[in-house]
Amino acid sequence: MSVRTKTTRTKSLAHCLPGDIKEIVEGLGKEALQLEGRTVLLCGGAGFLGRYFSTLFGYLNDQVFRKSCRVIILDNLITSGKLGSRIQQSNGFRFISHDIVQPLEFDEPLDYMIQAAGIASPYYYRKYPLETLEVATVGTKQMLQLGMKRALKGFLFFSSSEIYGDPDPQHVPTPESYRGNVSCLGPRACYDESKRLGETLCLIFHERYGIPTKMVRPFNVYGPGMQETDYRVLPNFASRVIARRPLIVYGNGSQTRTFCYVTDAIVGFVKTLLNGTPGQAYNIGNPVPEVSMLDLAKQLQRVVRRPLEVQTREYPDTYPADEPQRRCPDISKAAHQLNYAPCVTLHEGLKRFMGWAEKCYTGSQV
Ligand SMILES: NC(=O)c1ccc[n+]([C@@H]2O[C@H](COP(=O)([O-])OP(=O)(O)OC[C@H]3O[C@@H](n4cnc5c(N)ncnc54)[C@H](O)[C@@H]3O)[C@@H](O)[C@H]2O)c1
Repeated sequence: MSVRTKTTRTKSLAHCLPGDIKEIVEGLGKEALQLEGRTVLLCGGAGFLGRYFSTLFGYLNDQVFRKSCRVIILDNLITSGKLGSRIQQSNGFRFISHDIVQPLEFDEPLDYMIQAAGIASPYYYRKYPLETLEVATVGTKQMLQLGMKRALKGFLFFSSSEIYGDPDPQHVPTPESYRGNVSCLGPRACYDESKRLGETLCLIFHERYGIPTKMVRPFNVYGPGMQETDYRVLPNFASRVIARRPLIVYGNGSQTRTFCYVTDAIVGFVKTLLNGTPGQAYNIGNPVPEVSMLDLAKQLQRVVRRPLEVQTREYPDTYPADEPQRRCPDISKAAHQLNYAPCVTLHEGLKRFMGWAEKCYTGSQV
């Protein structure tokens, strides 16, 4: 799709790089036109990923669509922090402050629903276990019930790679067919188990009521716009790099993850919403490289071009232990069915993230 070069409001947004939004639009190509003139309900729109969706929709309205899409954003702002106040306020956007666990009186037509409300950072789901469990289960059910009364074209539920728990090494990289190894009583259960139940609800509402539900299982998405107070690993590292303090790794640092730069992830999410098979789940992430936390610190060192000290520490009370040892997606399903192909390398993504964090973080949070 050809994209006109005029930049308007994206320039002033501190929560993403304008070039990144353009990259997402290019990655979606003509598929994005399915959203033209449509109405989208976006739950969790004040969060990290939600703000990318709304900025993307704003950009498409400004630069690409002849008929704008309308976006209704729901969020109770529980973890959205300072950046969450910068919700898209232009024509066609409406913000409703609402806890999605509660019923919503809303009679307007909708074409798409995105359920990205959730408590996503281990620090916060340790702090708010019941809220974490309820938003993914009761909240998702409320939204599915809202969707039942509409002829929806797509309902996207944000599940998580955490639904796989701590996979047996023979199931890493992990395909969607792997059933998971999750403790229902562990310190992460409120998140993992509620996301699993959220997926089950989506399947039932598809089978019983015909809602075209699609589930995404994101694997560690990162990028500009993550709050410094988010407490996921990369914001923690970045804040400490800026403060010139040692990076802290919990446990022995050998646990592995893969990291997906946000532009690649948003392309995968939108593709799933538009073209995923109803009732099915898709891994969205970048399978390479699979890095230990100690390796991640070394990668960051190459980006900032100075030595970084790393200290390993026991898990504090504020952070749930029982971490998965390895996490790496098998993305062949999304690659074959959706033509999903992440392309931002870890080095390039870290460069963009650190460049942004150096301007926006204070170095005072961790
Ligand atoms: N970012 C990732 O790497 C990742 C990985 C796996 C899963 N996910 C899932 O994707 C979704 C979005 O993630 P994110 O990184 O943007 O998280 P985020 O914490 O930045 O944003 C989530 C938003 O949901 C809102 N929210 C929480 N409970 C709510 C409720 N009851 N009612 C209304 N709003 C509520 C929060 O205020 C916040 O603005 C979450 O469901 C998360 O669990 C994200």
